[in-house]
Amino acid sequence: MKINFAKAHDFSTLKNGVAVLVFTEEQAKKANIKAVKFAKENFDFSGKSNQSFLVSENGKLIGIVGAGSEKKLDELALNKVGSKIVALANGAKIKNVSVFFDLKNAADAAAKIAFGAALQSYRFNKYFEDKKKDKAFHLESLTVTAPDAAKAEKEYAPLKILADNIFFTRDLVSEPSNVLNPESYAEICKTLSKEGLEVQVFGEAEMKKLGMGSLLGVGQGSEFESKMVIFKWNGGKKGEAPLAFVGKGVTFDTGGISIKPSANMEDMKTDMAGSAVVVGLMRNLAQRKAKVNVIGAIGLVENMPSGTAQRPGDVVRSMSGQTIEVINTDAEGRLVLADVLHYTNTKFKPKFIVDLATLTGAIIVALADVYAGLFCNDDDLAKKIESCGTKTGERAWRLPIGAEYDEMINSDIADMKNVGSGRGAGSITAAQFLKRFVGETKWAHLDIAGVAWKGKGDAMAVKGASGYGVRLLNELVKTYEK
Ligand code: BES
Ligand code: ZN
Ligand code: ZN
Repeated sequence: MKINFAKAHDFSTLKNGVAVLVFTEEQAKKANIKAVKFAKENFDFSGKSNQSFLVSENGKLIGIVGAGSEKKLDELALNKVGSKIVALANGAKIKNVSVFFDLKNAADAAAKIAFGAALQSYRFNKYFEDKKKDKAFHLESLTVTAPDAAKAEKEYAPLKILADNIFFTRDLVSEPSNVLNPESYAEICKTLSKEGLEVQVFGEAEMKKLGMGSLLGVGQGSEFESKMVIFKWNGGKKGEAPLAFVGKGVTFDTGGISIKPSANMEDMKTDMAGSAVVVGLMRNLAQRKAKVNVIGAIGLVENMPSGTAQRPGDVVRSMSGQTIEVINTDAEGRLVLADVLHYTNTKFKPKFIVDLATLTGAIIVALADVYAGLFCNDDDLAKKIESCGTKTGERAWRLPIGAEYDEMINSDIADMKNVGSGRGAGSITAAQFLKRFVGETKWAHLDIAGVAWKGKGDAMAVKGASGYGVRLLNELVKTYEK
C-alpha cells in the first residue's frame, strides 16, 4: 500500500477514491455534515474508537471513522484510527482512500494515523503464485490530508522506517522452515552489513572453540550448521558500554527426541521470532542512525530428532563452565540462549541485556497473546520496559523470579537441569535458567511465545506474525540516546 500526504481541502472536492472522515466523540456530537448525520441516526455513530461506517451520498461512498474521546487521543489511539481505515477499505474492496480530519498538531496526527494504517496493511503473500488469490484484498493507496502536508511527511519518515523493519521481522517469522534454516538465515543477516551494521557469523567450529556445548547440543541433530550472529551498531560514543539484545532463533522446533505432538507443530516455524525481533530492531537502529552503541546477538539452530540428536539425560557443558542435564530436548530455547547470553555478557560488558524468546507454552496459558511475560533482575529496567510497552501497545506483564524457583532447576548430577521439577511455574523456571548465565548484569527476559503470532489479528497487527518487540525495544533504546 502506498501512503501519501496531501494538503487538506474540502472533502467534497475529492476527485478520485473514497473520502474517509475522522471524528472524535466531541466532534461527532456537533457535526453537521449530511453523511455524519445519517450515520448518527441510523448506526448510532458517536465517534467512539471502535466505530467505522460507509455511507452513500449522491451516489458517492463516504467513510466515517470514530477516533474516541479527545482526552484519550494519544499516539496509540491515532494509530488505531489509521488501522480502522485500512480495515474498512479492505472490507469493502476500496482501492484508493483519502483521509480528512480536524485535530490538534495535525501533521503529527497525520503521521501517526499513517503509521497505524501501514501496520494494518501488511501481508505475507509471496507464496501466492497469483497475488490476487490473497483473499484479504488490500487497499492500494492511502492519502492523508493535513494543512501542512510536507511537515506530516517529515514526521512520518522515522515511522515509515520503523514500519518497514517491523515488516522485515514479520517476514522472517512467517517464512517456512524449508526456506529459513540456520544457514540461509545467517546469509540474510550478512546482507545487513550494507545498512552500516557490523555483522559477524560464528559457525560450529568457532562455537566449539568457545566452548558453547549447550547451544551446539541443540543443533547436533540437524542437517544444517548451527550459527551465532553478532550485530554491532556503533552510533554512540566510542568506548561507551553498549545495550545488548539477545534472541532465540530456533528455525524449527520439533522438540527433538522429546518430540512434540503433530497437531499445530507447523507453528514451530515461528520459534525464531525472538531472533527476528533483534534483527529487525538492529536494522531499524542502523537506518535511523540511533545515537547509541548496541549489540544484537542471536543463536540459530534447528531442533531435530535424528541419529545424531542429543538424548534426554545427556549432560552438556555451557561456555560459562556450568553443566546442564538435558531432561527434555524440547526445552531447547534456554540451552541456546545460555551460551549466547554468556558470550554477550562477558565479551561486551553491556549496560543491560534484554533477551526475547518464544520460550514456553506456559506463558500462553498465563497471558495469551495479549502481554509478553517479563522477568527482570532490576526494578528500574523492568519499569522502563513496562512503560515503553504501554506507550507502544506492545505490553509486557512482570512475573516474579526468586530463590524458591531457582531451586527447582537443580540437578542431581549436574549444575542444573533444563526443566523445573514439579508441574508449576514453567515460564518462571525457564527464566531462572537464563538468569544463571547473565551474572550481575542488569537483565530482562521477554517470553514472547504468546504475542509473536496473532491467531486473530488486532488493531496494530494483522493475523499472523506480529513483529512484537521491535517497536517496544526501539522505544526503550530511545531513552538511552542523548
Ligand atoms: N518453542 C517452545 C515454546 C512454544 C510453545 C512457543 C508454543 C510457541 C508456542 C519451547 O521450546 C518448548 O517446547 N517449551 C516447552 C518446555 C517444556 C518442555 C519444559 C513447553 O513450553 O512445553
Ligand atoms: Zn521446544
Ligand atoms: Zn522452542
